[in-house]
Amino acid sequence: MAVFAVLSSVCATAFAWLLSFLFIAFLAYCFYIKYIHMKYDHIPGPPRNSFFLGHSPTFVRIMKNDGIVHNKFLEWAETYGPVYRMNILHYIILVVTCPEATKEILMSPKYPKDRFLYKRMFNLFGQRFIGTGLVTAIDHETWYKQRRIMDPAFSTLYLRGLMGTFNERAEKLMDKLSDLADSSTQANMLQLVNCVTLDVIAKVAFGVDLDLLSNNSPFPKAIETCLKGIVYQVRDSLFQFKPKNWPFIDEVRKACRLLRTTGAQWIRDRRTAMQNGDDVPKDILTQIIKTAATEKNMSEEDEEFMLDNFVTFFIAGQETTANQLAFCIMELARHPEILDKVTKEVDDVIGMKQEISYDDLGKLVYLSQVLKETLRIYPTAPGTSREIHGDMIIDGVHLPGGFTCMLSSYAMGRMEKFFKETLKFDPDRFHPDAPKPYYCYFPFALGPRSCLGKNFAQMEAKVVMAKLLQRFDFSLIPGQTFDLQDTGTLRPKSGVICTVKHRKYKN
Ligand code: HEM
Repeated sequence: MAVFAVLSSVCATAFAWLLSFLFIAFLAYCFYIKYIHMKYDHIPGPPRNSFFLGHSPTFVRIMKNDGIVHNKFLEWAETYGPVYRMNILHYIILVVTCPEATKEILMSPKYPKDRFLYKRMFNLFGQRFIGTGLVTAIDHETWYKQRRIMDPAFSTLYLRGLMGTFNERAEKLMDKLSDLADSSTQANMLQLVNCVTLDVIAKVAFGVDLDLLSNNSPFPKAIETCLKGIVYQVRDSLFQFKPKNWPFIDEVRKACRLLRTTGAQWIRDRRTAMQNGDDVPKDILTQIIKTAATEKNMSEEDEEFMLDNFVTFFIAGQETTANQLAFCIMELARHPEILDKVTKEVDDVIGMKQEISYDDLGKLVYLSQVLKETLRIYPTAPGTSREIHGDMIIDGVHLPGGFTCMLSSYAMGRMEKFFKETLKFDPDRFHPDAPKPYYCYFPFALGPRSCLGKNFAQMEAKVVMAKLLQRFDFSLIPGQTFDLQDTGTLRPKSGVICTVKHRKYKN
């Protein structure tokens, strides 16, 4: 009895201490947030929704209404100027739309990617996702080591060798479109180009034939689910604490696991082939295996690290390109005069031939302009962010170090002061003789952390578009929306539903 009394008294005291400790910690955190507010509140910015959550409720509201957060960033940039402040808990995010500052921040290796965003992609709701792969690596050493190993798989010489696969996979899309044209069936262009880009990355990067235009696959849905998961995890600090979200969170974890177990299987198969002395391609998978430590004593962390890059390339290598293609088709269908002009160029350069060569791509100048203009209005990866440790002055505003800087290609690409008649789709903005946009157009980011797959993506996009324009007339089914969907990346909400017809050639 006495023991029980002593125990309960100890527990009560411990509980009281714990409560006091929590209360003091809470108070300290409140003071810290207040201190941060005082440090940064001289920077212009919209009013906070709440002391703790800062502007996060605005983002949550926009997401709930299926809106585009980037439109809010754009609106605030127009209202509050080239640098403005947003708060989430004790974090400070400054949105910068000043070309000079964009140049300074993106071109220099001294500003690392920011922990606030990129660490949140390490895990998705507790399940490891893209860890410290090439996109999310923050520390310069970790990133640079991987980038050096990966570079050869993106050299011009290597990319030239991929033209066969780009042609072959795009040809499968043409077969599919031909069937749809023959049966007068509507084509969901986003879905179709998604299959092609996923087929291409699986084949080119990992040596696997998925043939998604003929086979069903869980991958497109899994990728979409993971991307949505990132958006919620990053923008809504309370998301995982609300029971109504738990079924979705479970789905996200399952999708993550599917991608990682697939990676583990494909890596195992490749390593067995290597150990058997088989002739294996020098593709992205081979390079991924090289990024891990020595092959003999591979630790569990090495294995996980390879999977980080597997998932990174599986997603980065297809989603953004597919969305760009879908937006491009949508805009061409809305602009018959641009469609005619680009089709004429394709006819002149490619004519009736089936195999498009690397040299042909260089001659498709207007098609390049069309693809660039597509990414101006619809930058499928809409922005990037960096951590700034030292003080800075932007546009005369003193910015004390210790903040996240967000750079939005979406916002800058749609600002009147950089691009007149911003929403007008006008590929001539990117005419070879036109002045180059000065650090206000960066759909592939800029500087050391710019997209490794830029040339890969634009070669693939050109092959697909050139074949499409060569063979088919397409038009949008009336009544569909031109709105965007924000899944972290941007995609056309409608799916770009078209009727396709075989082109009639004029003699
Ligand atoms: C239209 C297509 C594409 C667009 C718009 C795009 C855009 C971007 C952007 C904006 C970044 C910087 C991300 C950030 O700062 O967080 C990036 C990074 C990256 N992208 Fe792409 N990308 C595309 C296609 C591809 C393809 C096809 C691949 C691979 C085959 C790829 C691989 C990568 C990698 C590995 C990085 C990280 C680079 C590094 O930090 O060293 N991307 N991409």
